[in-house]
Amino acid sequence: MTVIRAKQFFDLALLLRILRLARPYKKKFYEALVLAIVLALLAPLNPVLIQYTVDHCILGAQYHLLSVMTVLLFSSLLIQALLSYRFTLLAARLGQNIVYDLRTQVFTHVLSLNMRYFDRTPVGTVVTRTISDVEAVNDIFAEGIINIFSDLLMLLVILMVMLTISWPMTLVTLSVLPLLLVAVWFFKEGVRKAFIEVRNQVARLNAFLQEHLSGMQVVQLFQAEQQEMEKFRVINRDHLKAHQRSVWHYSVFFPIVEILSAAALGLLVWYGAYQILHDRSTPGTIISFILFLNLMFRPIRMLADKFNTLQMGMVAAQRVFTLLDEKSQVPDRGWRSAASIAGEVIFSHVSFSYNSSTPVLRNVSFKIPAGGSLAIVGPTGAGKTTIINLLSRFYDADEGQIFLDGIDIREYRLTSLRQVICPVLQDVFLFSGSILDNVRLFNPEISRSQVEQAARRCGMDEWIRRLPGGYDYQVHERGTSLSAGQRQLISFLRALLANPRILILDEATSAVDTYSEQLIQRAMQVLTEGRTCIFIAHRLSTIKQATQILVLDQGQVKEIGTHDELLQGNTLYRRLYELQFGYNFSPV
Ligand SMILES: Nc1ncnc2c1ncn2[C@@H]1O[C@H](COP(=O)(O)OP(=O)(O)OP(=O)(O)O)[C@@H](O)[C@H]1O
Ligand SMILES: [Mg+2]
Repeated sequence: MTVIRAKQFFDLALLLRILRLARPYKKKFYEALVLAIVLALLAPLNPVLIQYTVDHCILGAQYHLLSVMTVLLFSSLLIQALLSYRFTLLAARLGQNIVYDLRTQVFTHVLSLNMRYFDRTPVGTVVTRTISDVEAVNDIFAEGIINIFSDLLMLLVILMVMLTISWPMTLVTLSVLPLLLVAVWFFKEGVRKAFIEVRNQVARLNAFLQEHLSGMQVVQLFQAEQQEMEKFRVINRDHLKAHQRSVWHYSVFFPIVEILSAAALGLLVWYGAYQILHDRSTPGTIISFILFLNLMFRPIRMLADKFNTLQMGMVAAQRVFTLLDEKSQVPDRGWRSAASIAGEVIFSHVSFSYNSSTPVLRNVSFKIPAGGSLAIVGPTGAGKTTIINLLSRFYDADEGQIFLDGIDIREYRLTSLRQVICPVLQDVFLFSGSILDNVRLFNPEISRSQVEQAARRCGMDEWIRRLPGGYDYQVHERGTSLSAGQRQLISFLRALLANPRILILDEATSAVDTYSEQLIQRAMQVLTEGRTCIFIAHRLSTIKQATQILVLDQGQVKEIGTHDELLQGNTLYRRLYELQFGYNFSPV
């Protein structure tokens, strides 16, 4: 969770980059800008018209002009209302269009990032960037930048008109301005800090909730409801307090503005009456100044809020841009196609670490001939999954090389490489959707009958049909509605349809029942036929299938050979074997 700091900043380069987002919507942007200018110029029109009406039509007894003035006034109001409608609509559409583009851009970029990025970035952060931060950029366009420009312009125009009509009266009207500006300044700063606090608290709530929903089973199993509730209550209370602080600022600021505006009005009426008594002004002028006063106070009051919106939007935009500038892609400079490889895999002196401090693989070398198979065994944390991560290029090796058919895997195009290598991972991830969707992974080229045929081939058709809805059975988020064994079987089916040259099986440590075991055995036979296979094996039956066995310990290759060879002498394999299977199987 990144905490937003209450940092004062206005970064022109950043603003320009934000403005560039509007480039595809130039027309909308400029139209909104023009409308903003026209609206600002039209703002003083009504007071001036009213002034004329009062002074000339009513007091000047030119009653025949009254209806003309009424029509003019009404038309001016109507035009301003229409323009304002158009402006609001345009600004909002502009903002939403930009949000749409930016969000697509962010997600496309996130999809291209490598595993290192996800290792160090919490899921919540990426979610916040893609959802709420992008939304804050919308506010810059919908409520921020053009509105601030239009308000400032309007203030300027009104001021000029007022000065032209009567400068002493303008000065009287503006006499409370310094106080107002001080109030605005305090309000703006206070609200900004409160808002930042609110956003931080929302992020905390989100992170807490997300983690506890995912870990609900653990919470309930260890009867931690009470403690967790207490923690939640504290965070929730902090959130409430932060909100209350922001509300407090509004509740103080608005009455103060009311008082100041009333004071200005009082001064104006008092001074105006005095001027009229001395024949230096007219009632129409006073009325128009009262209207000007209202016109001026409204934007000044709103400006504080809009500046905050702009600033918060810029902070959010900065964070979105940081994500977009993230360069952690897997370098994809390959040019070869792997489509017609035979499937020989060679690891040559490969060393690797996730975080340059602790080496995870050390000088690992082995060779699997095309169509051959290798079982990797070793204690937990030995680096078995890591070998697969390197072969699938989720990470690149720090030292040494990995060859596929004698060619460094970095020379293959990433997409092409991943088409020929298919890992069945330790933790099977299923998306919300039907079994069918999950098997073909939303690839429309794979038909239902192909899926059914593949399922029949490896004997899974029967149990899938037994599920409610069969192939259309809805899997829920993370696949919790299926057992671990069933999920494993579905991932087998996925692999079978992907039809890879090299199959990798990272076997789950969890034991499966005999029925699933039989299914898995059968599926394995079909799956491994004519392919190069790497098994990260926990079950003896799987280990025995492999032509070679590699024993990995603390990232190093300790032994390599066939099952029978490795059982000769005092080997690590023998010890592992006896420990793991000693009670069920007697060593050869
Ligand atoms: N994404 C990661 N970032 C940092 N370290 C990692 C990461 N993944 C694994 N490791 C570390 O690398 C080492 C090897 O992990 P690996 O997953 O390869 O073990 P494994 O042999 O597959 O174990 P298991 O049998 O439990 O699956 C471990 O010490 C682990 O802590
Ligand atoms: Mg593993």
